[in-house]
Amino acid sequence: MKTLEVKYSTNKTNIYLENNLLENISSLIPRGKKYIILTDENIYKLYSRALNVPNSTWVVLPAGEKEKNLDNVSKIIEKMLSSEISKTDILINFGGGVISDLGGFVASTYKRGINYYNIPTTLISQVDATLGGKTGVDFKVYKNQIGSIHHPEKIFVDPILLNTLPKNEYLSGIGEVIKYGLCFDEDLFNSLFSNFSIDELIYKCLKIKAEITEKDEFDNGIRLALNFGHTIGHAIEAVSNYTIPHGICVIYGMLYEIEAEDIKDKLIRLMQKFEIENQISYDKDELKAFIIQDKKIRNGVIKLPKLEKIGKVKITEVKINDYLMRL
Ligand code: GLY
Repeated sequence: MKTLEVKYSTNKTNIYLENNLLENISSLIPRGKKYIILTDENIYKLYSRALNVPNSTWVVLPAGEKEKNLDNVSKIIEKMLSSEISKTDILINFGGGVISDLGGFVASTYKRGINYYNIPTTLISQVDATLGGKTGVDFKVYKNQIGSIHHPEKIFVDPILLNTLPKNEYLSGIGEVIKYGLCFDEDLFNSLFSNFSIDELIYKCLKIKAEITEKDEFDNGIRLALNFGHTIGHAIEAVSNYTIPHGICVIYGMLYEIEAEDIKDKLIRLMQKFEIENQISYDKDELKAFIIQDKKIRNGVIKLPKLEKIGKVKITEVKINDYLMRL
């Protein structure tokens, strides 16, 4: 089994990564606690029998980004109260980024904060969303407008769970892997052109994210580099009414933000390899309306990652009006 220990100001996160880990999780969690397991209907149908956590109650929501809302926060809290979940009990998020964002947010507020574990089931959550403690819900049409930073105590990554992932969701994860390669690790980026091991890719991305979030837990410096491609990417996602998966929108955003033509060409070649469509068009005014709500804008200025070369990124300050003019 591969493991990582990531240290933060308030607590630490232990990561366990192994094929078929799902069936052995109960040997890695403490006895004598109550567990509330949050998941979606798809994951419940596929994997609820394989996950045996003693003393647990399930909360099962419909799948999809639309579920990441305050109504579901209330619903989960009601279930936790009626199940008498105490301050020392644990919430387990069993699903993709929607489930870990929503459940992580509940865990950060329930009785002023309880511990939680993540069992990420999508590639995008296994390589990125599961680690770093960003939690939250969407508000009206705006993504992640309400949230907190609250780190999971344990993360269990089982790459076998990806076998049932729809192709578009897999490609969405590849989008974030490309981001890690472009910004931090040229070998990782180049490996995507050949036959790669998905377990290795996941471990490498988590290791990079662990180093970055240990250095900049609260998103004030180098962690902002993880937003590469996300400013316009989030807007494309919203304008598409969440029909284009997040990581694919991030690829479109990176294409927009990369300045060097040779790097852009390499990215286009990767998109061709993975059969990701490159011909999409957006309504610019609609995109702009979303971009100006971006959380990273302070006093009309946005801190943006700028790719200097493959594997090297720096944070720059750009006036939001200049960024919008380039659209
Ligand atoms: N997904 C980017 C971050 O966690 O900072």
